[in-house]
Amino acid sequence: MSRKKLIAGNWKMNGLIADSATLAKEISLNVKNLKPNTEVLVCPPFTLLTTVKKALRGSKVMLGAQDCHIEEKGAHTGDISPYMLKDAGCEYVILGHSERRTDHKETNALVKAKAQAAIKAGLKVIICVGETLTEREAGKAFEVTEKQIKGSLPNESTAANTVIAYEPVWAIGTGKTATPADAEAVHAHIRKVLVQKCGKAIASRMRILYGGSMKPANAAELLAQENIDGGLIGGASLKSADFTAIIETAK
Ligand code: PGA
Repeated sequence: MSRKKLIAGNWKMNGLIADSATLAKEISLNVKNLKPNTEVLVCPPFTLLTTVKKALRGSKVMLGAQDCHIEEKGAHTGDISPYMLKDAGCEYVILGHSERRTDHKETNALVKAKAQAAIKAGLKVIICVGETLTEREAGKAFEVTEKQIKGSLPNESTAANTVIAYEPVWAIGTGKTATPADAEAVHAHIRKVLVQKCGKAIASRMRILYGGSMKPANAAELLAQENIDGGLIGGASLKSADFTAIIETAK
């Protein structure tokens, strides 16, 4: 089953207006001759969405956000609705990142409700799952990711509106990367869980990204694995040369 590779940059809480416009412009110029089988996405913080959207004008690079609320509008101070993201030009939203699950106590049920709301608003969702180091050492990587997938994916999920990101928590921002074989083992397991959850036709087309210290030096080998359909990249997505080099390794 051929699935288009998706290389997504998660800028997290980084960037001011001037630098971000430059970064986005550089990325859009670097990927002018994007391979037809690769898609590129950048997910800046909310304050930069408009700036980055402008800087990406005329390029194939897509825009995404890093979180959204479950409601369309209303009295939710400090929150952003999926309709606002759509209005700002986003195509994607990252949901259930481990940093949000930890910092904001986001549960699978909440991630699922957010995904439902985002899909209803016309966004595509990137739902993140992944085990902690303690869970991995206890041999629970499959069990934990399975529970997260089953609890966080809404019934509305299809291969067209949902992407999974497997991000082992111990590999995020630490410089430690899962070996391609270890990552592939979890990805293959996730694909099996998706068959149970969404049926074979959807599961075989749904993309599963790897995230956790992906960089130019390890991207090619990770992206060559059968069930690794792209990357969710934090640190290395903040440098246009590194992000571009990763994009170029995707086949
Ligand atoms: P990292 O972050 O590439 O800096 O490890 C990945 C992520 O958390 O999405």
